[in-house]
Amino acid sequence: MVKPLLRALSGQAQPRLPVWLMRQAGRYLPEYHATRARAGSFLNLCYNPALAAEVTLQPIRRYGLDAAILFSDILVVPHALGQALNYVEGEGPKLDPVTDAGGIDRLSADRLHQVLGPVYETVGRVAAALPPETALIGFAGAPWTVATYMVEGGGSKEYAAVKGLAFGARETFARLIDLLVEATGAYLLRQIQAGAEAVQLFDSWAGVLPEAEFERWVIAPTRRIVDAVRAEAPGVPVIGFPRGAGLLYERYLAGTGVDAVGLDTTVPPGWAARALQPKAAVQGNLDPVLLLTGGEAMIRAADAIVEALADGPFVFNLGHGVLQRTPPEQVAALVRHLRGIR
Ligand code: CP3
Repeated sequence: MVKPLLRALSGQAQPRLPVWLMRQAGRYLPEYHATRARAGSFLNLCYNPALAAEVTLQPIRRYGLDAAILFSDILVVPHALGQALNYVEGEGPKLDPVTDAGGIDRLSADRLHQVLGPVYETVGRVAAALPPETALIGFAGAPWTVATYMVEGGGSKEYAAVKGLAFGARETFARLIDLLVEATGAYLLRQIQAGAEAVQLFDSWAGVLPEAEFERWVIAPTRRIVDAVRAEAPGVPVIGFPRGAGLLYERYLAGTGVDAVGLDTTVPPGWAARALQPKAAVQGNLDPVLLLTGGEAMIRAADAIVEALADGPFVFNLGHGVLQRTPPEQVAALVRHLRGIR
């Protein structure tokens, strides 16, 4: 049996709508807090195969979604390249910033698979435990987004440091991006070998770049990763999520060759049906805030998305990750509704 999610990602419209949600595991679930407490810290959780597999499966047990997404974080790649990483409660991730050529020279992919070995083991454990119709999605951050955290040393409002390198020290920045392209391609292939059936590249900050820089730092590196995955694992779909790409969504799709594109909250579904769906599967894009609002507003918005997109290859998802304050019952109500209509 081909799993419904994989059929949709390979370009077929589905009688039964495949559904999963970005950040479907995590802090809005009480059972996540219990497992995280046993791990001691977020990073320990990411590197503990038994506990990370448990957290990956928690939303599957609750909601019977069509896909599990590996529980990990996009920043384990810089960590495995040798960059110090900490998750500070209430503040998000903190890294020792890489600001110049010397900082890039100190990174190395030599220990990549050694550090990330527990992640591959998590993938294997989840693959063995999933119901037969549920697909397993692996993921990584796309090079541009990962580089923003590496250079800024964490989240950012203005991206002045990373843009400074990208715009003003292009050859130096290209070395960082090249390292990330190599590491990310190898990382995704190992997840696939371990049992991931599709992979998603999260480019959460794709939307902060002007056109020419978007071509160079978002599209071109993503294309190289897609090609590397295709060469070794043909038939494993790649989903690209260039959040905020706006008018550049079409160019992203054509230029990267991804099999499916994740729509952020702002992309009009009707436009995506006409401009994107003839060329690729689309995934999205309910505003995650509607899971806090709930009720009629959530149901009406979900229906409008399904109406616009479900006659072509489509995966229902959010336009960004589940928010921390989301009541789990609202997620259950959304999934119940979607199961009732398709
Ligand atoms: O989707 C899933 O269920 C899989 C797990 C997953 C996490 N992070 C778990 C996590 C995935 C796919 C990610 C991706 C990720 N991580 C992205 C891209 C998606 C996006 O949201 O834009 C980014 C930018 C990161 C980097 C990151 N990791 C940030 C900014 C933070 C802090 C966020 C916050 O809300 O505080 C993290 C930590 C993180 N990653 C948590 C989880 C569950 C919270 C950790 C905790 O305190 O338990």
